[in-house]
Amino acid sequence: MLSGIGILYCVPSVGNPIKLALIGFGYWGPNYARVLNDLPGVELTVVCDGSVERLALVRERYRLVATCSRIDDLWHRDDVDGVVIATPASTHEAIVRAALERERHVLVEKPMALTVGGCDALCRLAASAKRLLMVGYTFLYNAGVLKMKQYMAPEQFGQVYYLHATRTNLGPIRHDVNAVWDLAPHDIAIFNYLLDEQPLWASAIGARVLRTARDDIAFATLGYSNEVVGNIHVSWADPNKVREVVAVGSRRRLVFNDLNDAERVRVFERGVSVGEAMADSYGEFKLLVRDGDIISPKVEPSEPLKNQCQEFVDAIAAGRTPVASGEFGLAVVRALAAIQASMSARGAVVDV
Ligand SMILES: NC(=O)c1ccc[n+]([C@@H]2O[C@H](COP(=O)([O-])OP(=O)(O)OC[C@H]3O[C@@H](n4cnc5c(N)ncnc54)[C@H](O)[C@@H]3O)[C@@H](O)[C@H]2O)c1
Repeated sequence: MLSGIGILYCVPSVGNPIKLALIGFGYWGPNYARVLNDLPGVELTVVCDGSVERLALVRERYRLVATCSRIDDLWHRDDVDGVVIATPASTHEAIVRAALERERHVLVEKPMALTVGGCDALCRLAASAKRLLMVGYTFLYNAGVLKMKQYMAPEQFGQVYYLHATRTNLGPIRHDVNAVWDLAPHDIAIFNYLLDEQPLWASAIGARVLRTARDDIAFATLGYSNEVVGNIHVSWADPNKVREVVAVGSRRRLVFNDLNDAERVRVFERGVSVGEAMADSYGEFKLLVRDGDIISPKVEPSEPLKNQCQEFVDAIAAGRTPVASGEFGLAVVRALAAIQASMSARGAVVDV
C-alpha cells in the first residue's frame, strides 16, 4: 500500500505538458473539461463519453480536443498520460483498474469504488504500477474548508466536541447509488481531514421517503477517538438546499457554509468547558462559559475544482502523494461501508 512519502511516480519529462483524457461528460464532466482546458501545464487531449450527444457538445466547445465513445480506444493513444474519470460511481472501479493496468495516472471522482476490497485493490495496483491514484474530494481544496482547519488549531479551538454536516437538496437522484454514497463522501472526507483521523464506528438510519429503489435520506453518526462524534444528514428530498459543516469545540464554534459567498466561514469565539466540581453538588461540575466575537475571516476566492486539478498535476510532476490520495479515498469508503451496514441493521453500531 502507499506509505504516503517518497513515492516516485513515473513523471512526464520536465517542460512537457501532461496530456490528459477526460472520461464522462455528463453533468460534472464539463466542469473538468473547462478547468483542464485552461490549466497551465496540462493538455486536454481527448474526451470519452458513451453518449454521441455529449460528444457532439464536446466537439462544439473544444475544436482541438479529440473525442471517442469507447474507453478502450484511449489506451492505444500516445497522448494520454493520465485520465480524469467523471462517470457514475458504479463504473469507477472497472475504469480505474483499466487505466492503472495501462499505466495511466488517475484522478477519479468520489467514491473511488463501491467496496472496501475494491478500493484496497486499486491502491495496491497504483503502487505497483507507480502511477498516481487521486480521488476527487473537491472540498479538501475548498478555501473555506482550509480556513476552517486553520481555525481548528488546538490552542484556539480547544477540545473538539463534535462535528455536524448537512447536505440537502431536491435530488439530483442517482440511479446507481443511494444518497449516502452520493453525498456523504464529501462530509466524511471533510471530517477525516479536519480531525486528521478516521472514524472508529458508525451508526446510521436511512429511509426511502420518495419511494425510490434506494435510501434517499439518511442520518449517520461517526465515532472518532476521544469520544468525538460527527453527524451527517444527507437528503435528496429536501427543497431547502444546504451545504453546511459545523465544528464545535470548547473555545470556538465554526460554521462553513458553501452557499454563502459573502461569509463562507463564521467563527464564534464562544464556548463552554467543564471546570472544577461544585461544592455539595453530588458530582456536578461548573460550566465555564467563554463569550467573544463572531467573525467572518477573509476567504480568498478560488475554484476548488481548479485547485484539485492543479494538485493532481503537481503531485504527478513531483512524484508525491496528494491530500486526496487513493488511501484517503479508501478510508472514506470504509466509513461509507460501515454506514451502509448500520443502515441495513437499523442503526446498530458497526465498526469501521
Ligand atoms: N465533486 C462534486 O462536487 C461532484 C458533483 C457532481 C458529481 N460528482 C461526481 O461525478 C461523477 C459523475 O457525476 P455526473 O453527475 O456528471 O453523472 P452523469 O450521469 O450526469 O454523467 C456521467 C457521464 O458519463 C458517461 N458514461 C457513463 N459510463 C460511461 C462509460 N463506461 N464510458 C464512457 N462514458 C460513460 C455518461 O454518458 C454521462 O455523460 C459521479 O461520481 C459523481 O459523484 C461530483
